[in-house]
Amino acid sequence: MKSFKDKVLEAADFVHSRIETTPGIGLLLGTGLGRAAESLQNLKAVSYSEIPNFPVSTAPGHHGRLLCGEINGKRVLAMQGRFHYYEGYSMKEVTIPIRVMQVLGIKTFILTNAAGGINPLFNTGDIMLIVDHINLTGDNPLIGPNIDEWGPRFPDMSRVYDRNLMALAKEAALRESVRLQEGVYVGLAGPSLETPAEIRFLRTIGADAVGLSTVAEIIAAAHAGMAILAFSVITNMNLPDNPQPARFEDIIKAAGHTAPRLQAIIERVISSQGPGDRSQETAGSGQSEK
Ligand code: HPA
Repeated sequence: MKSFKDKVLEAADFVHSRIETTPGIGLLLGTGLGRAAESLQNLKAVSYSEIPNFPVSTAPGHHGRLLCGEINGKRVLAMQGRFHYYEGYSMKEVTIPIRVMQVLGIKTFILTNAAGGINPLFNTGDIMLIVDHINLTGDNPLIGPNIDEWGPRFPDMSRVYDRNLMALAKEAALRESVRLQEGVYVGLAGPSLETPAEIRFLRTIGADAVGLSTVAEIIAAAHAGMAILAFSVITNMNLPDNPQPARFEDIIKAAGHTAPRLQAIIERVISSQGPGDRSQETAGSGQSEK
């Protein structure tokens, strides 16, 4: 049987042969947000189903393609649709695309997701800059033998989200006149959504938004030493004293409605990246400073 590393290397080789370039920035677009990548210039698309060893998205609202193209001359590799633990993939399998990005030399990673708001000051349609996260999935993609070339056994997690990129995102939001909330994302396994008692608990432990993705990919990207920027689109509010059923169609609709504003912020951040396409000062600092 092929090792995890061999599977990733084979997938990366295939992707490289198809895109024929070396993008500096990786973008992962979540539920209802995938269209944002279709405005890339000089676009090349590779279906996940063509890539050896790549999982296939089964979740609704996810397209299942890698798109490679440019935003203002900055080369980007975008995942249009992600894999979730609740689909039955292992945490490691969920991170295969992140490892492919790492092998391709990507040093900056930007992620978006759809999430339920827990902070009562948020509203449906808000964009939240993820400043930290809580992994409450009960699992971790780094369990098992460590691949030392890819990162340390015990990666530091004290500064996962890159301060330079966050500052650029805040400036971009100001310029776009978009109110950018900030907060802590808690990732659960799902797929059942949260009970009011669980929401009360999540708020108590410091979460501002809840979702069923993201933590696996972020842990892998942090292990890889990437400079990370992440956003949640608040697609519904979870208020334990006034619980409202969360309908999937409404979540998709809310994400789609907010997508253009988030796209504008991300495009500005990417456009302001240096020629090396990375946040030079802090990329990988989580590992090297310790
Ligand atoms: N809970 C979990 N995941 C979600 C939610 C939610 O309320 N909204 C969007 N993704």
